[in-house]
Amino acid sequence: MHKMHKKNFLLFFFLFGIIFYILIIFVSKHSIVLSFLLFLLIITFVFLYFNFKISSLLFYKNVYNVISQLIYCTDINVLFNFIAHSISDLLNAERSSIFLVNKEANILWTIVAEELVEEIVLPIGEGIAGYVAKTGQIVRINDDVYKDKRFSPIIDQKIKFRTKTILSVPVFDKSNNVIGVIEVLNKKSKKGFSKKDEEILVLLCNEITNVIINAQLYGQIQLLLESLLKSFAAVVDARDPATKGHSLRVMRYAINIAKAMNLDISEKKVLEYAAILHDIGKIGVPDSILLKQGRFTPEEYEIMKTHATLTYDILSKIHFPQEYKDVPYIASLHHEFMDGSGYPYGLKGEQIPLLARILCVADIYDALISYDRPYKPPFSQQDAIKTLYEMADQGKIDKNIVDIFVSKKLFSIEERKFVRVNKEISFAYKKLTAEDMKAVFPILAKTRNISLRGLQFISNEDLPVGTFLEVELYLPNFTIETIAKVKHSTRLENNYNQYRTGIEFLNLSPQAEKRLQECLEKETN
Ligand SMILES: [Fe+2]
Ligand SMILES: [Fe+2]
Repeated sequence: MHKMHKKNFLLFFFLFGIIFYILIIFVSKHSIVLSFLLFLLIITFVFLYFNFKISSLLFYKNVYNVISQLIYCTDINVLFNFIAHSISDLLNAERSSIFLVNKEANILWTIVAEELVEEIVLPIGEGIAGYVAKTGQIVRINDDVYKDKRFSPIIDQKIKFRTKTILSVPVFDKSNNVIGVIEVLNKKSKKGFSKKDEEILVLLCNEITNVIINAQLYGQIQLLLESLLKSFAAVVDARDPATKGHSLRVMRYAINIAKAMNLDISEKKVLEYAAILHDIGKIGVPDSILLKQGRFTPEEYEIMKTHATLTYDILSKIHFPQEYKDVPYIASLHHEFMDGSGYPYGLKGEQIPLLARILCVADIYDALISYDRPYKPPFSQQDAIKTLYEMADQGKIDKNIVDIFVSKKLFSIEERKFVRVNKEISFAYKKLTAEDMKAVFPILAKTRNISLRGLQFISNEDLPVGTFLEVELYLPNFTIETIAKVKHSTRLENNYNQYRTGIEFLNLSPQAEKRLQECLEKETN
């Protein structure tokens, strides 16, 4: 940079010398006014030249800054957000999205799209990003993109955005496979995206390759970790069928509260893992106590209470990544009460971390409404809420958390949002795989439990959680096409070849959502 300054300085003196020389010649031959006008003209040119030089220097400095930041940032979510924002800023555009390619499912999904809450999923080949992923070609459209046949307006409709101009560039790995697509939308200047914008974006894409490869590895590890944690929860369920599904429900309540309290991503993850695993210590409690019908004797209760410290002992043997290192401690505190009367440590008030206080409320609520605990009948929703408030008034649980939980109706977790329709709705699905999709025949199924977010049905095959499906939903007079993801699949107790399967719709268009809403209203009356 120093060399650059020195060069500019010399250039400035050289130019200044020439101007001075021309002026002296000019003044000696012409009037003062004319000389002054010439002087102004020259100064203006010099000013414009340097201004251009400096702004382009600043631009490249910004590009350099973005690239250098890529090395230092280790949080994948923060990193992708940073990249998307930086690209929008650098290219003076309204919005940028980063899509990752999932080869097995033959889809593209957004790891980040600025100001987007829901993830977008596109089959490869669909839309501009899908075209770029399929062909590996750059697309730059400065006329109205709606006139381009490759463009799909579904995303615009979904996020209530109007794409006008677009610059979409593929990200390649070292073997020249497309692993991602970057899409920049709506250049703020009238000329649209230039060749220079394209070059800058290609330059950035080369730097982003490693970030995407890391994100995919990180995603796989995360998936592995989460599936392991869920199978741990299933181990507890298998030991104690009376509390089947308790851990997953507690996790959903706890996450709802965390979202309502705007906790940050890593706190939410700690809470999610702690909630799934909070009762894992029960595997160390003898059957004679764990499975006992009726009330515990004081001695039995003392043994039952050891499950909290056992949870800590078991979980502390797992090597959690640094950002999740509090999971064992938080999980072991789910029976601590604010007044110090809880266990295992008898912590008081603020000594109990916020995440553990959330977990405690979620755990109590689920225990109250559960219909399958042998020692008590299930509470109604109102009675459970009343009990939560009584406990908050006694100073046992955090009243603020109870308020949030109740006022925002966070107890309505996903599964309970399904409505039961009068007539069965037929649908067909096929698994999205990398193989030729036409070779896979769609499977017909029927459902009566459906919501705007997804549906539940009895499947003859175990669809692994996370499988992507292409779904056609046959409503009366209207067919909806959407991509869906399997959220849960549980073998039916009385039939070993059937599974209760829940799927979530990923890209319903607003129009399809409206039709589905109308259908649900009609079919539930
Ligand atoms: Fe517990
Ligand atoms: Fe529990």
